[in-house]
Amino acid sequence: YEKKEVNVTFIRANGEKLLAKGKEGDSLLDIIVNNELDIDGYGACEGTLTCSTCHLILTKEDYDRLPEKPTDEELDMLDLAFDLTDTSRLGCQIIMTKELDGLQVKIPSTIYDARS
Ligand code: FES
Repeated sequence: YEKKEVNVTFIRANGEKLLAKGKEGDSLLDIIVNNELDIDGYGACEGTLTCSTCHLILTKEDYDRLPEKPTDEELDMLDLAFDLTDTSRLGCQIIMTKELDGLQVKIPSTIYDARS
C-alpha cells in the first residue's frame, strides 16, 4: 500500500501562498520542514508540544472536519500563541489524511515561542 501524496497551501499573513506536498501520515510541521518552507521560527520544539510556534489558523469548515480533536496539552499550548482564533491548531498535531488533500491554512502574523 502506497501512501497517497497530499497537497497543502500555507497562506502568509500578507496573502502570499506557499504550496507544499507531503504524504498521508505527515504532520503539517513535517510538510513545512520537508518542503523547506521559510517560515521564521516555525516548529521550534520539533513537535514536542512545548513551543506554540507551529500555530496555524484553519477555516471553520476544515477545523470541524479534522479527524483528531485537540488534546488538553495542545489547547494549553495554544493559549500561549499570539493571534489565537477559535479555529487555531498546532501544525505539529495535525496529521494529513487523503481526505485533507488540498487543505489551505493560514500562518498567523506573529509567531511566538512559549519557551522564550
Ligand atoms: Fe512546538 Fe508544535 S512545533 S508545539
